[in-house]
Amino acid sequence: MASRRFSHITTVFLLTIYRAISLVSVDLPDTLPLGLLDLDIVDKIQLDPNTTTQFSIDYGQLSQAAPAAVYCPSSPDDIAALVRFAYTSPRYFTIAARGRGHSVRGQAFAPGGVVVDMASLGRGRADRINVSSDDAPPRWYVDAGGEQLWIDVLHETLKHGLTPRSWTDYLHLTVGGTLSNAGISGQAFRHGPQISNVYELDVITGKGDMITCSREENSDLFYGVLGGLGQFGIITRARISLEPAPQRVRWLHLVYTNFDMFTRDQEMLISKLEKGFDYVEGRLLKGKDVSSSSFISEEDSEKVKLLADEFGAIYLLEGAVYYEQATASMVYQEVESLLKQLSFVPGFAFTKDVSYIGFLDRVHEEDTKQSSTEHEDVLHPWFNLFLPKSRIRDFESAVFKGILKNNNPVGLVLIYPFNKNKWDDKISAAIPDEEEVFYTIGLLPSATRENWEYLDKQHHEILSFCHQEGIEFKQYLPRYVTETDWRKHFGRKWHVFVQLKRQYDPKALLSPGQRIFTTPL
Ligand SMILES: Cc1cc2nc3c(=O)[nH]c(=O)nc-3n(C[C@H](O)[C@H](O)[C@H](O)COP(=O)(O)OP(=O)(O)OC[C@H]3O[C@@H](n4cnc5c(N)ncnc54)[C@H](O)[C@@H]3O)c2cc1C
Ligand SMILES: *[C@@H]1O[C@H](CO)[C@@H](O)[C@H](O)[C@H]1NC(C)=O
Ligand SMILES: *[C@@H]1O[C@H](CO)[C@@H](O)[C@H](O)[C@H]1NC(C)=O
Repeated sequence: MASRRFSHITTVFLLTIYRAISLVSVDLPDTLPLGLLDLDIVDKIQLDPNTTTQFSIDYGQLSQAAPAAVYCPSSPDDIAALVRFAYTSPRYFTIAARGRGHSVRGQAFAPGGVVVDMASLGRGRADRINVSSDDAPPRWYVDAGGEQLWIDVLHETLKHGLTPRSWTDYLHLTVGGTLSNAGISGQAFRHGPQISNVYELDVITGKGDMITCSREENSDLFYGVLGGLGQFGIITRARISLEPAPQRVRWLHLVYTNFDMFTRDQEMLISKLEKGFDYVEGRLLKGKDVSSSSFISEEDSEKVKLLADEFGAIYLLEGAVYYEQATASMVYQEVESLLKQLSFVPGFAFTKDVSYIGFLDRVHEEDTKQSSTEHEDVLHPWFNLFLPKSRIRDFESAVFKGILKNNNPVGLVLIYPFNKNKWDDKISAAIPDEEEVFYTIGLLPSATRENWEYLDKQHHEILSFCHQEGIEFKQYLPRYVTETDWRKHFGRKWHVFVQLKRQYDPKALLSPGQRIFTTPL
């Protein structure tokens, strides 16, 4: 007994010496508490500048802020251990989950703190996506790790003939990252955004507690986390609803020269929740942006270019109808009769038939880069708004025909509507309150070091215009720095937002890059 005790003391002693030595060699940045080195998880913490530098930039490339350390957890328990330590540590340091860093404004940064590389949760593991197709429908679902990419979720569910209903345009985004925002694309008018299609979440709160939540259980946390900008916890698992996957997609591009007809048709299409399009989006095309698209033949491309030259700008309504091979001819007829009700320029409807996955995975990162320049040199000062339907016309005149008039290229500009009743009122995501239909406007230009600030200035002008005209807009993937602006952004939801923060992350440890709460509450 005595000798065992002795050896224990010796071990502790040796460990202390060892840590003292390794301390000197690892040189813990002074923003982090020394106690971090005593944790079992210490070998998952990376301090070398090569690694921290990689995590100090994001897709936007507009700003830079290095964390003191990068954490590579192998399990949700590892994350809980780190957060619990931070919560009890007298020394304040922040923690940001990072999906793929596809934010554009440093939202996944943790300056001087710890970035959690969520990808390491899934690395080399096959058990992070579980499809459940045994229960009777409609309770088919997939349990996916918060770090998982939507493209991988799609591949797994398709093996069971199933698919999530609501998407983003680009699928190499993480489940936890998009659920912290909203997750929008052309299916949202029918099914709501991705945050409307979740049954359950596992969340590690800012106190380090692991909580399972749903509409029934811990519902305040559930609704808070959805669209909650990472402020209340780190999502480690999401249970997402599934439906049978269609085999084929009839994909349409319809060209308009008249903005009113374009939006009227979009609104008509999103009101048809039964037989109609399964996907509705739209964009502005002008000048250099009307380059030949792979969607249409070169000959048709020329036609479209001439039209754009004549009218200055054109609008492209993008639609899709899902179908089964066996019913193809019937669906073609239905699409034809739908087209008869629409007011696109005669002769300017282009269609294509593709596989379901070919349609969903249509956007690749390549498309968002400028082909001639290196990826490193492409900046993305992206700017997204939600606007009430009644003001979309004012916006068009002042912004597309005004502020952005001389931008050539203007870059990708998305314009499409949603039905508000598909957005649960209790979720954190902020949307315009007043009308049943609201639009998303996405200004998604590529920029250089030289011109990005000019584009950024234009975005500020757009915000000023909206303020002046009393347009009840909301930013999507918002970026604000003052509490007044955040308060205005969340509007009547602000009070609940603060209350949830006080309850689940009172020390304001999580996702500091959003710059909503900058000190413990
Ligand atoms: C090419 C491209 C196309 C896009 N298309 C769309 C689109 O069609 N529709 C759409 O809605 N969005 C779109 N986005 C935006 C995208 O939804 C956001 O970038 C989002 O942040 C997801 O990116 P991410 O998974 O890399 O998360 P990150 O950028 O890494 O993180 C985003 C925020 O969420 C927090 N976070 C990350 N993981 C978790 C987690 N597991 N739990 C809690 N908080 C977490 C982070 O701390 C950070 O604050 C697009 C982005 C790009 C670059
Ligand atoms: C960091 O990167 C540099 C240059 O690529 C390399 O020489 C160095 O060995 C790297 N350091 C570590 C700790 O990986
Ligand atoms: C998938 O199921 C396995 C086995 O039950 C479990 O260990 C794992 O945590 C599950 N994964 C998710 C993301 O729920």
